[in-house]
Amino acid sequence: MKSNGGAGHTAALVVVLCVLLPGAVPAQHAAATITNPFQGRADVIDEGRSLFNQYCGHCHGTNAYQGERSRDLRRLNLRYGQQAPRVFYEVVSNGRLDKGMPVWKTVLSDEVLWQIFTFLETVQTPP
Ligand code: HEC
Repeated sequence: MKSNGGAGHTAALVVVLCVLLPGAVPAQHAAATITNPFQGRADVIDEGRSLFNQYCGHCHGTNAYQGERSRDLRRLNLRYGQQAPRVFYEVVSNGRLDKGMPVWKTVLSDEVLWQIFTFLETVQTPP
């Protein structure tokens, strides 16, 4: 009985390690596939739109209506296709300071950024 209990403990430890270890390298994995955690969530669109208008609208146009192509965020899918979520996340996180796009990583949470992206998905120019 006693030694069985010990084996049970070892097995439990192995299980715990297996669960914990993959979580130890999320950064690498995330870099390969950056995806919108709110994809398809209609319930965050309104919030995303209002966050967008609050933080981004004065440069990117109210509701993302914007004539200047380099900052027309309705063209993200056209420009970047499946890479759009990754490009969005990288540009918004790190900015393009030389071009006048601020850094948002320290200002807005990931949650807010992806809510904004979820809104932007609804206004993309069709291919
Ligand atoms: C101070 C003005 C300003 C604000 C505020 C601003 N941006 Fe930008 N953003 C720019 C400019 C200018 C560019 C174009 C950079 C370039 O020419 O490459 C840009 C580019 C981008 C791009 C890349 C577009 C592309 O097609 O490559 C994304 C994505 C973006 N902005 C998202 C946002 C989001 C989201 C917000 C709000 C959280 C925001 N921006 C707020 C000025 C701004």
